[in-house]
Amino acid sequence: MERDTSTSILDQLAALLSDYDGTIQRRYCDLSNASALLAEYLKRINWVGFYLMQPDQKALVLGPFQGKVACTDITLERGVCGLAARSKQTVRVDDVHAFPGHIACDGASNSELVVPLLDRDGLVVGVLDVDSPDLARFTEKDQSFLEDAAKIISRALWT
Ligand code: SME
Repeated sequence: MERDTSTSILDQLAALLSDYDGTIQRRYCDLSNASALLAEYLKRINWVGFYLMQPDQKALVLGPFQGKVACTDITLERGVCGLAARSKQTVRVDDVHAFPGHIACDGASNSELVVPLLDRDGLVVGVLDVDSPDLARFTEKDQSFLEDAAKIISRALWT
């Protein structure tokens, strides 16, 4: 993805989220449009969306997404999403079949990138998860773009 295009998408993303009014309804509305925007612009992906942290901080639950029906509950010990949430770090997996504990929601997925969403106190409020049918689909540039997107999303919706 070219820098100009990705900058314009991040600007569009910020604009989409600018109506947030503090309600759960609007957060779900904005996350839905964020997943649609990312799905439209990211090439060679089969799933993009959010898992949100449960109040007990022990598990993630499925949020708005684009893609096939997905698993609904992921405890923090499990999966690529669980690792990103408990380590507060992006996890980029070139081959999900070589990742111990990977949770296969869509059998077509071969690589995956998960970015944690942090609130202003540094608490994990969820993750942004992207899957691809290609091995090693995600580059450092993609990682940096999706980390920027995650920052925009968490700053806009968890203020
Ligand atoms: N593969 C993820 C589970 C979520 S799906 O990819 C949508 C994981 O291992 O955490």
